[in-house]
Amino acid sequence: MTVCEYRAGLEGIPATQSSISFVDGQRGVLEYRGISIEELAERSSFIETAYLLIWGELPNKDELELFEYEIRNHRRLKYRIRDMMKCFPEGGHPMDALQACAAALGLFYSRRALDDPAYIRAACVRLLAKIPTMVAAFQLMRKGNDPVQPRDDLGYSANFLYMLNEREPDPLAAHVFDVCLTLHAEHTINASTFSALVTASTLTDPYAVVASAVGTLAGPLHGGANEEVIFMLEEIESVENVAPYIDHCIEHKQKIMGFGHRVYKVKDPRATILQHLAEKLFEKYGGDTFYDIALEMERVVHDRLGHKGIYPNVDFYSGLVYRKLGIPTDLFTPVFAISRTAGWLAHWKEQLNENRIFRPTQIYTGTHSSPYVPIQER
Ligand code: CMC
Repeated sequence: MTVCEYRAGLEGIPATQSSISFVDGQRGVLEYRGISIEELAERSSFIETAYLLIWGELPNKDELELFEYEIRNHRRLKYRIRDMMKCFPEGGHPMDALQACAAALGLFYSRRALDDPAYIRAACVRLLAKIPTMVAAFQLMRKGNDPVQPRDDLGYSANFLYMLNEREPDPLAAHVFDVCLTLHAEHTINASTFSALVTASTLTDPYAVVASAVGTLAGPLHGGANEEVIFMLEEIESVENVAPYIDHCIEHKQKIMGFGHRVYKVKDPRATILQHLAEKLFEKYGGDTFYDIALEMERVVHDRLGHKGIYPNVDFYSGLVYRKLGIPTDLFTPVFAISRTAGWLAHWKEQLNENRIFRPTQIYTGTHSSPYVPIQER
């Protein structure tokens, strides 16, 4: 065995082999199962993309209809999950609520028949179907309202926006949201997917796998960044404040949220698509000063940090789109989780095909043969 040098954050070290997605950070390419993200964003739907990710190929018409039907039939939440949610503090972060609910699903379906394709399919369907309902239910319940029941006549994305805002979205809003889900569905071995893989490798149940990934996605350096982008735009307030704000961040070595990526050294292709979607929404529903600030930020960051490969990532424009769709800021990361569940499940299934428990090594930096000092002498 070759002994590798230690690299913080495992940067550049392969942790698995996968045929699910591919990123070329120098050319700004992202593919799911070989198909470009641009093509999927334009021609596919989130549910079709989830099928592609999990089962490896695009479904035919009957397969897609069956998958959509199964998901529609599993959208409702168990009363006991709803009762559990009632006990959550209203001020708690929705990602914590989602993590608890995803884990709690495992209490109902804990049979770990990981070699049974029917069990795997049922788990994928339940998680994809119920996570949006959980997110919408928590939002309404923390406002003191009863959750809205899912509507069978609405597609996946339209139904989520309906459950969240208590009114049917217009087709453009539902379409834009669906594309957002497609764009966030998978992104190779990022932190939350790695966390899902480590958990999956112990052969625990898929609900624990997704709960562990949700906890990892919650941090501000990962999924939490799009929330931080909005706080930053609020703080900046006007286009004139952009350059001083960026210069202050650079001088004090503070990260500018929504910029930079471990893999992309050019503009994230998802950010480009999201920017177009944001423009479509602004065209229909009216402009947004935050967008003007965002454009100026992109210009100034390119000027100051472009030479380091620091460009907008997926989180920079997604917050602007979600805001325009009426999604509260602290639901941005749970919305990311709705979408990324597809990628996590694809990796869970792939991991099961050739499982070996993760057990890396470490470089010990502590002492040896240290004396035990009795408590009275410390
Ligand atoms: N603002 C200012 N400088 C930056 C930024 C940024 N957002 N990102 C990286 N840099 C600089 C950094 O200061 C360092 O400079 P130097 O070499 O002079 O010390 C250099 O670029 C390399 O940075 P790093 O922190 O070693 O890069 P990393 O690969 O460890 O970090 C990152 C990647 C995404 C954590 C980081 O870019 C960051 O914190 N960005 C802001 C948070 C964010 O937007 N996160 C969402 C990431 S995309 C979605 C996802 O993966 O969930």
